[in-house]
Amino acid sequence: MERTFAMLKPGVLQRRIVGEVLSRFERKGLKIVGLKLMQMDRSLVEAHYKEHVGKEFYEKLVSYTLSGPVVAMVLQGDGVIATVRRLVGPTDVTNAQPGTIRGDFAYQTRLNIVHASDSPASAEREINLFFKEQELIDWEDGN
Ligand code: CMP
Repeated sequence: MERTFAMLKPGVLQRRIVGEVLSRFERKGLKIVGLKLMQMDRSLVEAHYKEHVGKEFYEKLVSYTLSGPVVAMVLQGDGVIATVRRLVGPTDVTNAQPGTIRGDFAYQTRLNIVHASDSPASAEREINLFFKEQELIDWEDGN
């Protein structure tokens, strides 16, 4: 079964909109199989964002990600990687349409409030960085 990783960035906690953002995933009917509040450390941030090392926004991205706790989650279901990316909207928030999470809650790309895996390979890598297999619960919803 397909899984993806999503992370609510520190601004979501600071703005008290964790519930509102989580509800976007839930009301779509997506299944949360892993969820935790955590303060990342620098080595985890560097591992998570390793493809961005050396870019001009990298240091600010690291310091923003360390500025408070994040909510890390794993969602599971057919096509969930693409579905979550559609709900979240594009990385460049100037292209994010109203109705998407970034379109509704972010106006700066640096503070785009949510991260979501962009491919099966990055989903697998990111899930393994943040979660142990025993922290993921593949529950039955009876539907
Ligand atoms: P995210 O999906 O978490 O993946 C990498 C992050 O880098 C991205 O969201 C943004 O927060 C940040 N980012 C990407 N491009 C830029 C940019 N041009 N300027 C500032 N931050 C960026």
